[in-house]
Amino acid sequence: MTDTRPAVVLIGFMGAGKSAVGRLLADRLGVAFTDSDAVIETEAGCTIADIFATDGEPAFRDLEHRTIARLLAETDGVLALGGGAAMHPGTQALLRRHPMVVHLRIDLGHALARTGDDARRPMLRRADLAEIHARRMPVFDAIATLVLDTADRSLTQVADVVLAAVASAPQV
Ligand code: S3P
Repeated sequence: MTDTRPAVVLIGFMGAGKSAVGRLLADRLGVAFTDSDAVIETEAGCTIADIFATDGEPAFRDLEHRTIARLLAETDGVLALGGGAAMHPGTQALLRRHPMVVHLRIDLGHALARTGDDARRPMLRRADLAEIHARRMPVFDAIATLVLDTADRSLTQVADVVLAAVASAPQV
């Protein structure tokens, strides 16, 4: 894995397990794990909830896109994106050029059961959350090179399927 671009990019709705699977995957591949949300929070010096509250969602999406564009160019290993990141047209254009984008798919019921009422996730308070979920799924499916249902799979099972896909992808 000599390329600097991330070997695997994980996208998916909140609660899909992007960070947990990403860590496991990176561990198994012996590579670094990067979480775009964590990078944004470290660099901004505040939480994503703070950014939403102070600057609003559009400002967050812009910052998120710029951060991810940099991470796609500069990081290797496994990169997990925030749950709405792949809706940004600029980010979509970058992801379409990437050979291994995995959509960890989760239905809304399982997603909410996993996240609970997490105050760190401002999108969970949106009244139109079901519509947001419904809008995102086909977009994420279309961008991904691999779509994986996570609702009935353990973290290890999900990581195993992604590992097998990485192993059989010559360009990664
Ligand atoms: C968001 C999901 C969050 C985070 C932000 C917005 C979304 O990431 O990027 O709160 O729009 O679904 P996780 O999917 O890691 O919770």
